[in-house]
Amino acid sequence: MAVLPILTAPDRRLKQISQPVSKVDDALRQLMDDMADTMYHAIGIGLAAPQVGILRRIICVDVHHAQEGNEKKPVFIVNPVIVHSAGEICWKEGCLSIPEYHSEVTRAAHVVVKGLDRNNQVLELVGDDLMAVCLQHEIDHLNGKLFIDHISMLKRSILLKKLKKQKEEQ
Ligand code: NI
Repeated sequence: MAVLPILTAPDRRLKQISQPVSKVDDALRQLMDDMADTMYHAIGIGLAAPQVGILRRIICVDVHHAQEGNEKKPVFIVNPVIVHSAGEICWKEGCLSIPEYHSEVTRAAHVVVKGLDRNNQVLELVGDDLMAVCLQHEIDHLNGKLFIDHISMLKRSILLKKLKKQKEEQ
């Protein structure tokens, strides 16, 4: 179990397409545990493997823990695919890779996601509202897409300039 460093934008690795996993093995289960530790440590509700520099299609979500401060129940999805989506929801999103920035994004309000679980078994998950938002946000990461790619180009370029400057100053 380990807390991994989280990449922050702008970073070339956050813009790349992650590779599918052929089989969930012990090494990947270790990575999943580390991803969960990293997510909880950063008080996030979702984390995708590319955010810790691993370009594989793995996400971890837990939308209840942060809200209620209760038991940790991370859900891991490997090779997640949205097989059904419906409705529309506007949510003020944030991202562990874009510290201290939030912006409203419109997404589907209901999704069904298929993939593999941590035991390499087929998993189907239904997500509504925040869970739907979180699943779509994390799956976007696997395709090199950040939530700021859903906002206006002007807002995004101003933000990225600021983030780049912050990084250079560090
Ligand atoms: Ni994110």
